[in-house]
Amino acid sequence: MTSQQRKIRKMLADKEGILLVHFYARPEIQEIADVLGDSLLLAQSAASSDAKVIVFAGVHFMAQSAAMLSPQKTILLPRVDAGCPLADMADAASVKKMKMEEPDAVFMAYVNSTAEVKAESDICCTSSNALKIIKTLPPAKKVVMLPDGNLARHVASVTGRQIIAWKGCCPIHQALTVEEVRECKQKYPQAPFAAHPECRQEVLALADFVGSTSAIIRFARETNANQIIIGTEEGILTELQKQNPGKIFIPASPSLVCIDMKKITLDDIERSLETMQPVITVPRDIGKAAKNALDRMLTAS
Ligand code: 13P
Repeated sequence: MTSQQRKIRKMLADKEGILLVHFYARPEIQEIADVLGDSLLLAQSAASSDAKVIVFAGVHFMAQSAAMLSPQKTILLPRVDAGCPLADMADAASVKKMKMEEPDAVFMAYVNSTAEVKAESDICCTSSNALKIIKTLPPAKKVVMLPDGNLARHVASVTGRQIIAWKGCCPIHQALTVEEVRECKQKYPQAPFAAHPECRQEVLALADFVGSTSAIIRFARETNANQIIIGTEEGILTELQKQNPGKIFIPASPSLVCIDMKKITLDDIERSLETMQPVITVPRDIGKAAKNALDRMLTAS
């Protein structure tokens, strides 16, 4: 551990705080995490922890979810501008309009959404539990899945459910092309291709495995293959390499880098713990409705 990493760990201990870190965060931050995980595990950890302070090394919607699930804790997001372009692709007014057009549908919000959008939704999901959550919804009901259209189409194709897909996408996963994957497969013919469901449908059609970040990590651990092509943000490679030192991981494209997830640095975390800023809060009325959708997801997970 570097002296700065040690200093941060000491500050966390002094403040009875924990550091929740997503797999896409910088490696030096992953190294000192209390919990390193996918968006579901991080939400579950925020809800169940008895820490007084939660420092989030992820993006804004994750810290917002923590604030709603644990209103009595101080939630710090060391860079308040660490956003999610996908989450910004749905706003509450458009969801309200869609609810008028589809009054009988169930609205299922991907956690990568704003608190305002969650507040307009019936239930949340993440990429690791979307298939499970949809099974808890009445089979005859039409489902509107937002804001990620690719995840919605993936869930529809696996389950056969009638799903209206919102026109949103993660620009990083969306940018991965069939040509790039084919090129990798040609270069590494023995390597299975593991992809995140935020990738386009035609890319997922080439995948040997589709799953969330934690599911991809599990797949990599369990497969006999020792070369694996990875179709998600490059931050996951740190944990993949750590867990499987003998295996080779090939990023499906050099452009799989989320600049928002990389914004938070050790300096930002240190400063944030010094100043106890920026604190993430959610207005009470929105928080209450959005928490209902999150709670339904956590209960069904
Ligand atoms: P996970 O649910 O796999 O952590 O994915 C979160 C995310 O933001 C993907 O872009």
